[in-house]
This record gives sequence, structure tokens and C-alpha cells, in this order.
Amino acid sequence: MIEQSLLIIKPNAVVHHHIGHIIAMVEQAGFNLKYINIIRFTPELASVFYEMHKGKSFYDRLVNLMCSAPCVGIIVEKENAIEDLRGLIGDVNPEKRKVGTIRDFFAEGITENAVHASDSKESAEREINIIFPQFGT
Ligand code: CMP
Repeated sequence: MIEQSLLIIKPNAVVHHHIGHIIAMVEQAGFNLKYINIIRFTPELASVFYEMHKGKSFYDRLVNLMCSAPCVGIIVEKENAIEDLRGLIGDVNPEKRKVGTIRDFFAEGITENAVHASDSKESAEREINIIFPQFGT
């Protein structure tokens, strides 16, 4: 089934000029880029987007990271996009992360992990609605 997912290139990857390399990896994996824009997280936007992580030990660090510099938001589309994009970015846990994934190349820490991708159909819909409401359902 053709699906859409949301990819966010995080501030640490943006400031280190990895945008082009990450987009090339996504395109080479067969994803179509449906919409792309620079996004700037505020603490308010980050608190909505990462609502489910409130109260966790890394929450403040995560919000600070996301607000520290611009991000790039991309709506990607392809067959099985949600699962395939999660595979392409690699696990959040460095010990479980496969070699050759985006996070393998560009993550600098568990929080500073270069990219975010929606983890389910429900998350993709929710996250696209939050970040790009003009394309939401
Ligand atoms: P992301 O895909 O954006 O989803 C939630 C984020 O929280 C995750 O990437 C990491 O940046 C961060 N995160 C998740 N688990 C941990 C953890 N155990 N320690 C630190 N940061 C984490």
C-alpha cells in the first residue's frame, strides 16, 4: 500500500551540513519527496510533537535539541513507507542500529540522532497534521 511518512532532519544534522546526504539516501531508497520545508521548532511545538515523552529523563534535552536550530521536515511517499523509512534511519538504540543506516552515519548521541521518522500509520497522520497541517487529513 502506498503510504506517507514524516521525516525530520534534526538540528544536529542540519548544522553539520548533512541535509543533502540524508536526502540522497532517502531518494536512493525509492522514496518520493512530496513536500519539504525548513521548520523551526518552538518549545510549544516540541511539547505537542513529543507529548508522549513528557516526564522521561531525556525530555528536556530532546526539546532543547529540537529548538536549537532549524530542522528540515519532509513528507515522503512510497509503498510501505512507514516501516521502510524506520528501517532506513536505524534504531534509536546504538547497540541495535544496523550499519549503513542514516543514524549509523550521522547520529552523535541517543538524543542527537540526526533524524526522526513516524513509527506507525497513526503517528504519521498525527505528525503530518502537526508539522504540515496544510497536508493533513
Ligand atoms: P525520535 O525518533 O525523534 O523520537 C523520540 C526521541 O527521543 C528520539 O528520536 C531520541 O532523540 C530521543 N530518545 C529516545 N530514547 C532516548 C533515550 N533512552 N535517551 C535519550 N534520548 C532518547
